[in-house]
Amino acid sequence: NGYFTYDPGFVSTASCSSRITFIDGAKGVLLYRGYPIDQLANKANYLQVCYLLLKGELPNKTQYKEFEYKVIHHTLIHEQITSLFNAFRRDSHPMAIMCGIAGALSAFYHDNLDIYDPEHRERTAIRLIAKIPTLAAMAYKYSIGHPFVYPRNDLSYAGNFLYMMFSTPCEPYKVNPVIERALDKIFILHADHEQNASTSSVRLAGSSGANPYACIAAGIASLWGPAHGGANEACLRMLEQIGTVDRIPEFIARAKDRNDPFRLSGFGHRVYKTYDPRAVVMRQTCHEVLNELKIKDHPILDVATELEKIALSDEYFIERHLYPNVDFYSGIILNAIGIPTSMFTVIFALARTIGWISHWNEMQEMPESRIGRPRQIYIGKPLRNVKVLGNR
Ligand code: CMC
Repeated sequence: NGYFTYDPGFVSTASCSSRITFIDGAKGVLLYRGYPIDQLANKANYLQVCYLLLKGELPNKTQYKEFEYKVIHHTLIHEQITSLFNAFRRDSHPMAIMCGIAGALSAFYHDNLDIYDPEHRERTAIRLIAKIPTLAAMAYKYSIGHPFVYPRNDLSYAGNFLYMMFSTPCEPYKVNPVIERALDKIFILHADHEQNASTSSVRLAGSSGANPYACIAAGIASLWGPAHGGANEACLRMLEQIGTVDRIPEFIARAKDRNDPFRLSGFGHRVYKTYDPRAVVMRQTCHEVLNELKIKDHPILDVATELEKIALSDEYFIERHLYPNVDFYSGIILNAIGIPTSMFTVIFALARTIGWISHWNEMQEMPESRIGRPRQIYIGKPLRNVKVLGNR
C-alpha cells in the first residue's frame, strides 16, 4: 500500500548494526571481529573464538585461562534438569529435546537475572556455552537409552563433548587429538554468521526483554529447519539416498525441475554467491579426518566428490551461483567420527550458541535497540459486517 518496504525473506533489509561478523558474499569473505575465518580455524581454538565473539578481542594467555576456567566450572547442569529428559518420548529427535531443555534453563536462571547488567550477561553467556554441550550429549544418551555421562574438567571443550557422547560406564572414551581438533574446527566455523534466521530469531525474541535462555530456545527452533542448520542432516541423508555415483544425474535432474520441491542439500546460500569460505576449510579438515581414520573408500565421500564436480560444471548451478556450503562437508566429517546423523544439527546449535548470545549481548548494549516489530502488506478481505450465526 506504499507505506512500507515489502521485502519477503529480508533479502535487502538490515535489521540492526553489529560489530561482530562481516560477510562479503560476492568475494566469499567471512570475518569474526575482523579476523578471517580460515586464520581463526587454523590458529585459534573454539573457546578463544567464543571470547572473541563475546568480548571483541582475542584473549591473551591469562585472559584465556580465566575464561576457560569459568566455562569448565559451569558445565554441570542442575540435577533436576536430568529428570526433565524422562518426559520426552524415548525416540525423540535430539533437536526436539534441545528446544525444550534449553528453554527450561530459563526456569533455573530467571529471578536474579538483570539483563541490563554486563556482568550478568557475561555469566549468562558462559553458562550457556558451558552447559549446552552437556545437554546435547545427554539428549543423545537419552535417545539411545544409555546413562548420562557427566563432564570432565581436564578435557578440552571438544574433547569433553566427545567424551560425554561416547563414554559408557563400562568404558571411558579415549579422545583422539585429530578428531578433537576437527570437531573444534567445526565449532569455530559454525560459531557465528551474522543475521541468519536463527540469530535473527534470538534477537527478535530478545528485543522484548525476554529471558535469554528462552531466546536461545527460539534460536534452536529456527535452526532446526532443513533450509538452515538442518541442512547438514538433510545433506547426509541425501548422499546416502543417492548411494552410488551413477545415480547422481537423476538427483541433479530433480534439483533442476521446478515442479519438484527437491533441492540439493548443502548447496546454495542466501549470502554467498561464490564458494562458502567455511566449506573450503571444512573440505580440508574432511580429508585430514578420513586420512587419520584410514578411510580410503568411503561411498558417501565418493558421491559427494562427484556431486560437487557435476554441480559445479552444470549451467543451472553456475547461473544461480549455487556452490557447496558449510554443511556439505561437515556431515561427512561427523559421520566419519561416529556422530549419529540426528545429532548433526544439535552440534550446529551447540557451536552457534556463542553467536546467538553474543548478538543478544550486543543488542542490549546498543542505544538504538528497540523491540523488533516488522509490518506487513495486508492482502485479506476488506472491511465487512458480522452476521449473526443463523443468518450466515
Ligand atoms: N538445489 C537446487 N536449486 C536451488 C538450490 C539447491 N540447493 N538452492 C537454490 N536453488 C535455486 C532455486 O530453486 C532458485 O531457482 P529459480 O531462480 O529458478 O527459482 C534459485 O536457486 C535461487 O534460490 P532461492 O530459494 O531464491 O535462494 P535463497 O537465498 O532464498 O535460499 C538457501 C538459500 C540456502 C535456503 C537455498 O539455497 C537452499 O535451500 N539450499 C539447500 C539447503 C541448504 O543447504 N541450506 C544450508 C545453508 S548454509 C548453513 C546455514 O547457514 O544455515
